Amino acid sequence: MKITLSVLKADIGSVGGHTLPSRRVLAKVEEVVREEVGRLLLDAHVFHIGDDIVLLLSHTHGIRNASVHELAWKAFREGTQVAKEEGLYGAGQDLLKDAFSGNLHGLGPQVAEMEFEERPAEPFMVLAADKTEPGAFNLPLYLVFADPMYSSGLLLSSELRPGFRFRIMDLAQTERDSYIVLDAPERLYDIAALLRDSHRFGIESIWSRRYGEIAAVVSTTRLRNIAGRYVGKDDPVAIIRTQKIFPATEEFGPPFALAPFVAGDTRGSHHLPLMPVKANTPASTFFCVPMVCGLAFSLKEGRFSEPVDLFADPVWDAVRAKVVEKAQEMRRQGFYGPAMLPMEELEYTGIAERLKELEREFS
Ligand code: 13P
Ligand code: 13P
Ligand code: MG
Ligand code: MG
Ligand code: MG
Repeated sequence: MKITLSVLKADIGSVGGHTLPSRRVLAKVEEVVREEVGRLLLDAHVFHIGDDIVLLLSHTHGIRNASVHELAWKAFREGTQVAKEEGLYGAGQDLLKDAFSGNLHGLGPQVAEMEFEERPAEPFMVLAADKTEPGAFNLPLYLVFADPMYSSGLLLSSELRPGFRFRIMDLAQTERDSYIVLDAPERLYDIAALLRDSHRFGIESIWSRRYGEIAAVVSTTRLRNIAGRYVGKDDPVAIIRTQKIFPATEEFGPPFALAPFVAGDTRGSHHLPLMPVKANTPASTFFCVPMVCGLAFSLKEGRFSEPVDLFADPVWDAVRAKVVEKAQEMRRQGFYGPAMLPMEELEYTGIAERLKELEREFS
């Protein structure tokens, strides 16, 4: 059976700052989506990461389907209405256009979708980040799909041995989408040369070379490219199929435990580590540290099992304690050097404007 998974994420307002959506907003979004389960949709699961609401939808209509995208748009719009009634901060923040125009790409929400023939057992995971940048998953996914030091399955399983194909997007292109396709392991150094720059390049999808099957998709929207100014962060969502011909679920843990420094946090203008947290965690008052959550499911004829929270077991409390130390160390140097983003990535214009004025005082 050919199934489509669609994950759509938007920040439509939050309580007391950029923290989390209110219960009423979440309930409204969920109600709109639920109405279509058994009709347009096979199943739906709604959760949040920080103040971003994530819709996981299954159906048989393929990717970029107008009706599915319109349903998500409707859910986010009706949720925004509730957010406005409640006076939530940044109500409708990620809905950058007024009218729906066929699909959600270019309207603000993050979109990751894949269509595949469902395997007899189809385990998959959804990753969602808040307070960070589209390339935030670059390093962990590179390590899972291309580095045997992290992903021993690349050595242990003949299914994985031929490696994976990376489709990487140039996020600086604003006129049109621009991709490069590179095969690991042969092009490992080229893949690394691109992915090291998480502000500029983002993994868009990953494919099994042996079977041509899609393994992973990541959203690649840059809100700034749509709105032309800072309107909140463009943090990604991803769908990843696991096991058998793909890396095992547990092979994703250690690369995320690395918690690489990524752009984001307060005012989208700093570098802090990407902290793995439980699903439905509010954003942190510690500087809005970038966060990622992960839920894994089994799929049967398009219906979801209950989720397992990938960053909930006791190991992750120990990881988080380390990540907090790493974050505090960077934060100690405040605005200085790599703690704050370079000029061209700064999402607020205050410093650039001030430097222009200071130019006149130079002699
Ligand atoms: P189980 O024996 O619990 O199924 O684990 C299999 C495995 O290989 C995990 O990596
Ligand atoms: P969000 O993108 O989650 O709204 O965060 C905005 C921000 O600048 C927080 O400091
Ligand atoms: Mg917000
Ligand atoms: Mg947000
Ligand atoms: Mg966000």
